[in-house]
Amino acid sequence: MTAAPLLKAEDLRVVFRVDDHEVRALDGVDIDVAPAEIHGVVGESGCGKTTLGRALLRLVPLRSGTVAIGGVDITALRGRSLRRARAQMQMIFQSPWSSLNPRMPVGRAIGEAARAHGRSRGRDVEVEVAELLELVGLDADVAARYPDAFSGGQRQRIAIARALAVRPRFIVADEAIASLDVSVGEQIVELLLELRERLGLAYLFISHDLSAVERLSERVTVMYLGTVVERTSTETLFRDPAHPYTVALLAAAPGRYPREVRRRYVLEGDPPSPIDPPPGCRFWPRCPVGPLHDPTRSVCRSVTPELVDLGGGHHVACHFPREVRLPDPAVR
Ligand SMILES: Nc1ncnc2c1ncn2[C@@H]1O[C@H](COP(=O)(O)OP(=O)(O)O)[C@@H](O)[C@H]1O
Ligand SMILES: [Mg+2]
Repeated sequence: MTAAPLLKAEDLRVVFRVDDHEVRALDGVDIDVAPAEIHGVVGESGCGKTTLGRALLRLVPLRSGTVAIGGVDITALRGRSLRRARAQMQMIFQSPWSSLNPRMPVGRAIGEAARAHGRSRGRDVEVEVAELLELVGLDADVAARYPDAFSGGQRQRIAIARALAVRPRFIVADEAIASLDVSVGEQIVELLLELRERLGLAYLFISHDLSAVERLSERVTVMYLGTVVERTSTETLFRDPAHPYTVALLAAAPGRYPREVRRRYVLEGDPPSPIDPPPGCRFWPRCPVGPLHDPTRSVCRSVTPELVDLGGGHHVACHFPREVRLPDPAVR
């Protein structure tokens, strides 16, 4: 990225204590998001995507690392200054139910968010709420209704309106279309694009829906077990994935490749536990070109691969990148 990043995080480490164990949910993650960029994040369940989003918003304690927004380091902020910094960033979730109070009219929920951040007072709030509802494609007169009067897609629009009430510059959309029907999810994707155009918003778009990621994102980050294994432009990622894990992820996605291809590249087993990740490359126990398939490749078991630029900003953390190749998508 040539433009100065809107958001930049380095060496993020987040550790959860569970019983007597430490879960290394993020284990040294770097990421940057340019102004108005849509940055996709993909990877199997449990790889740390939600934790990454929460870490960027400073909603979870960091063991190490830094987060900066607009060039301002917010890692050490507390109290009022942290709240002010946080207002530049918002998160929307898979289930808008969980973030909307069923006993509060939606207009009031949106208005309280606007007021809590000192955006507007009194009668102005009503105007502001009407504008926010219009922005997400709803009529202003729905403000008096309660959440259960709305469909899933409408509720997601309301959750987005409430997130926008604080005028953020950066939004983490965490599986924001996962619980919606395909066509409704597509409308939300359209809305996110339109809001980017109108407001210059940047997004971290976390999704297991690879076609939505492909359609929306400028760049994609692929995560595996708390680390970044690949990051590049969306076009390059889908045309020329270099990490064997990314190849497996693309091959497994529904509808991308014929069944023979899917079967050939399928991964055995589940990801290992982040409580006790394997040494060296975290992917080696499942890797189709790793030491289990070629015993001379003991390096994978002992040396953690760095995320390096193969050229043109195509970053990969693998000792043997580009060995597993998918068939040309043109012939799929
Ligand atoms: N609050 C928590 N307490 C303990 N473990 C957690 C907590 N949140 C996440 N984890 C663990 O951290 C890892 C990453 O989780 P998460 O970020 O939710 O992954 P993803 O969003 O990619 O599915 C998982 O092993 C998960 O069980
Ligand atoms: Mg998650």
